[in-house]
Amino acid sequence: MLRIAVLVSGGGTNLQAIIDRIEDGTIRNTEIAMVISNNKNAKALERAAKHHIPAQCISPKDFENRDMFNKVLLDTLLDLKVDLIVLAGFMVVIPPEMIRSFRNRIINIHPSLIPSFCGTGYYGLHVHEAALARGVKVSGATVHFVDEGTDTGPIILQKAVEVKTGDTPEVLQRRIMEEAEWKIMPKAIDLIAAGCVKVVDGHVIIEEETA
Ligand code: GRF
Repeated sequence: MLRIAVLVSGGGTNLQAIIDRIEDGTIRNTEIAMVISNNKNAKALERAAKHHIPAQCISPKDFENRDMFNKVLLDTLLDLKVDLIVLAGFMVVIPPEMIRSFRNRIINIHPSLIPSFCGTGYYGLHVHEAALARGVKVSGATVHFVDEGTDTGPIILQKAVEVKTGDTPEVLQRRIMEEAEWKIMPKAIDLIAAGCVKVVDGHVIIEEETA
């Protein structure tokens, strides 16, 4: 059984997709050990509660300094003995100690086709504003492992989504969520749970399932 922690900050629609796909059996052999939010008002916490999934808020606001917050977050994850940390819209910079402790065991979803429209400052609607400003005809989403850079880790899965005439950032954001994010994030977790995902020389290799 793959034990995962899902880290969230807001709406939690990616968390919902993960919950739904575990419940319908599309994600196999996986349990959510804990949902952690840095924001006590995150709707994602309500989603967890509705499905009887343990959830807690760990907010930087409740600590004297960032180092103390980082330590409690890392200690909580280590105590939970999770195999994989899933960043599903977690708007907190991941501390280097956490990346070292969970090397190639933290995944993130980014709402563009990396390496386009990613890196510092590209979050939320800014990503889609930039894609529309450039006039790209396709955008999409990427699931990747987290390394020390911003959106620079090994790419696991990507899915392209059409940009349509008249799209607003909000419309494009929603289409990318529905057509890409909610599909490739659950798929990546299932592949990892099945032991099919290897990182070799900084690149992901997806192996066939031997059933
Ligand atoms: C998604 O667009 C994801 O790509 C980005 O943050 C957003 C989270 O949305 N990293 P939600 O909280 O899962 O609804």
